[in-house]
Amino acid sequence: MAAGELEPRYRHALLIGTTGMLAAASAWIAARTERVTVVARRAPEFRLGDPVLDGRLERIAADYADTDAFIAGLEVRLGAAAGLDLCVTWIRPAAHDLRDRIAVLLHASRARLVEISGSRSLKPGGFAERRAETMRTYFAELPYQQIILGLRPSASGPRTLSHAEISEGTIQALRSGGARHLIGDPSRPS
Ligand SMILES: NC(=O)c1ccc[n+]([C@@H]2O[C@H](COP(=O)([O-])OP(=O)(O)OC[C@H]3O[C@@H](n4cnc5c(N)ncnc54)[C@H](OP(=O)(O)O)[C@@H]3O)[C@@H](O)[C@H]2O)c1
Repeated sequence: MAAGELEPRYRHALLIGTTGMLAAASAWIAARTERVTVVARRAPEFRLGDPVLDGRLERIAADYADTDAFIAGLEVRLGAAAGLDLCVTWIRPAAHDLRDRIAVLLHASRARLVEISGSRSLKPGGFAERRAETMRTYFAELPYQQIILGLRPSASGPRTLSHAEISEGTIQALRSGGARHLIGDPSRPS
């Protein structure tokens, strides 16, 4: 760990869409968190492969394609005393309404919201900018961080990130804080 980085601890983390390429980052979070709620359509099947860490997981099967049902389900399962202090989301569609409603869910506990998105979100006036503006305007009470998935150079030109690189970059971002963390390079050269 480099100087100035954080070794965070959490009480309750809400992880949405982190059972695929972010599984290793989920394990890192689980190792530092008392209670971890994992949300995905197939969350009940998700295992970290470590009995201690798996014992900390509460798994919620939910599909974010239906925003109302997704949020209502989370409200019921999390309960009023959720005590969240971290929420990490990897949600493919831009889905601003869904993202806003997740932020509303975090309001009472002032949890830190970390949104992961693809490199195209970095376009001027694009998704990352608009999300940051929304968070500043309507959810200023929430600590907010963006993690953007970039590209890596390779012999045959820029390539997408591996799952290991994505999880490592996410862990690095959680440790270092900051409003925006780019993993890799911003975009393909034109
Ligand atoms: N710039 C880059 O390098 C870059 C950017 C983007 C993607 N990628 C690559 O794209 C590949 C695959 O991306 P991926 O999006 O399939 O990521 P993934 O992390 O492998 O899977 C998507 C995650 O979201 C959940 N999910 C998906 N749809 C959902 C829904 N409707 N409701 C609730 N949860 C849902 C999935 O669980 P369930 O299926 O159980 O719901 C899973 O947890 C990765 O291998 C990555 O390397 C690269």
